[in-house]
Amino acid sequence: MSARQHTLRVLIFDSGVGSLSIGAAIHDLLPEVELLYVMDHDGFPYGEWDEAKLTAHICATIEQVLSAHHVDLLVMACNSASTAVLPALRKQITIPVVGVVPAIKPAAALSQSGVIGLLATPGTVSRPYTAQLIQDFAANCQIIAVGSRELAPAVENYIWHGQELDAVLHKVKTAFSQHPEFAHMDTVVLACTHFPLVAKQLSTLMPNINWVDSGQAIARRVAFLIEQLGLTTMPDKLATQSVIILGEEPISASLRCYLQANNIHINAG
Ligand code: DGL
Repeated sequence: MSARQHTLRVLIFDSGVGSLSIGAAIHDLLPEVELLYVMDHDGFPYGEWDEAKLTAHICATIEQVLSAHHVDLLVMACNSASTAVLPALRKQITIPVVGVVPAIKPAAALSQSGVIGLLATPGTVSRPYTAQLIQDFAANCQIIAVGSRELAPAVENYIWHGQELDAVLHKVKTAFSQHPEFAHMDTVVLACTHFPLVAKQLSTLMPNINWVDSGQAIARRVAFLIEQLGLTTMPDKLATQSVIILGEEPISASLRCYLQANNIHINAG
């Protein structure tokens, strides 16, 4: 395939600020690649949606975004969405789609005890896709699944409004600790892209745990696909990062500050 020179643009799609954890990993590895974040704020939280309705909603939303913006590659930066919509989305659009799904395989490789926590939204925990990942890559492990209804909204509010997180984090710890195998749990999969944004708080509350997220693996996958597609980047150019927020709520001062600190511009849409 012949190489062509242009600024590559990767769309990073999520219901909210979870896109930022995945985008940060991609930007670290590929600073020359332009990133367009789309946060479907009005659709948040995806973890509570019925699978079929979520699939239809995301396919329609992405169709609209792609009709207005040129994009070379799409990262579905949401476990709750990827575990439901990937087949339908890949049928609908022609650009490559990288899905973020629970990092069960690396967690199973890392765990010494074989007792692994799965921290996700209720949607991700209940999906057949997730059950299949466990069967394929962690059949010999004991999985302690916590489908938290509150943690993704708490992280969203933490970034949007600086809202306190402690009570919700303690509930998460309590949910894990009620399992009879909790004392042996040495690894937890952060199977929601919002959660790496509070990994520090989680590891303070629950020390001596390997916290596994998908960011770096996704960044490597994006790099691999860029090479495969023959799309060359402009190495001397630090590409821009911008965000589109879909929804009625005006951007908060706290989120604006977070984005500015990370050199992410706010795009009117
Ligand atoms: N970031 C989403 C994920 O990875 C969760 C947030 C939501 O429920 O919309 O699952």
